[in-house]
Amino acid sequence: MRTIVIAGGTDGIGKQLALQFIRNGEYVIVIGRSSEKGEALRLEAKKLDGERKFLFLQADLSIISETIRIIHEVSRRVNHIDQLILCAQSQKLSKVYRETKEGIEHHFSLYYLSRFILSFQFRELLTNATAPLIINVCAPGVKGDIEWDDLQLQNQRSFNSIKAIMHGSRLNNLLGAAFAQSTANTNIKYVLFNPGAVQTKGATEAFDHKMINIFVKLMYKIIGLPVQKAVEPILHFVQSPPEDSLTAYKQNKKLDIAQVIPNKDQPERLVRLTLALIKQKYGDLMINYE
Ligand SMILES: NC(=O)c1ccc[n+]([C@@H]2O[C@H](COP(=O)([O-])OP(=O)(O)OC[C@H]3O[C@@H](n4cnc5c(N)ncnc54)[C@H](OP(=O)(O)O)[C@@H]3O)[C@@H](O)[C@H]2O)c1
Repeated sequence: MRTIVIAGGTDGIGKQLALQFIRNGEYVIVIGRSSEKGEALRLEAKKLDGERKFLFLQADLSIISETIRIIHEVSRRVNHIDQLILCAQSQKLSKVYRETKEGIEHHFSLYYLSRFILSFQFRELLTNATAPLIINVCAPGVKGDIEWDDLQLQNQRSFNSIKAIMHGSRLNNLLGAAFAQSTANTNIKYVLFNPGAVQTKGATEAFDHKMINIFVKLMYKIIGLPVQKAVEPILHFVQSPPEDSLTAYKQNKKLDIAQVIPNKDQPERLVRLTLALIKQKYGDLMINYE
């Protein structure tokens, strides 16, 4: 029985994976924001006779202190993690710039920073597993530059969450590379995974406007994958992890890692800036990045 932690496992891709792992008899820990969704998932696990091997932990992962609390909670309960799957994300589209109560741009904090903290802070529990794997479900393959002087897009002429999400994806690529560099002497594998367009509520209800959402839903019926289909490559990685410490995929297609991470100095630069930001907003995190 594997221990699998899914951040953002109460809906969409994460939920689909959680249910499949419960069916397979794995021990599944799901982290999500909504307690109602967590309870609904517990009832589904019960129906599958997997309630005893399911744990829901409520947290708003856009908040650093909440992410740290969850790390402590998980660490108290298990002595190893076989798979860490990172799905928590808000795809709501908006032109309004929004900060968390810790003073960090919301998308940056949820989509990138929480994944940074979860990846590095769970490193020890992962190394205790036989074939540990992190799957960061993001969007490798999305082109563009990193805004080094404005990582949180706080000083743009106008804010746009689409830009923040795409920028967050590029930050996640560098996170994967930084993690793989710093764990080169361990057996942890890191996969950056782009599922393509998937018919989840998060993606098809991204707009505030009802009519636009109806149109998007129709479009996703044509161009998107059903969520059961979209998770197939992830289920495959869990059964047989890639050999390289860092890989990137768009659906089943392996991407050229040199194109995903064109500049080898950038991951370390991002780690330094991220650690400085965490120190400023939260305090020192004992992350051993060498
Ligand atoms: N769907 C697509 O077309 C698509 C395409 C490319 C990449 N992706 C990537 O795939 C990943 C999963 O996407 P999805 O479509 O499955 O997402 P989704 O259906 O919107 O589900 C997102 C999950 O994240 C959780 N979450 C949101 N905000 C949170 C917070 N502040 N704290 C803790 N949990 C939070 C949600 O729980 P609550 O509902 O309780 O908030 C939910 O469980 C994302 O990273 C996304 O960028 C998706």
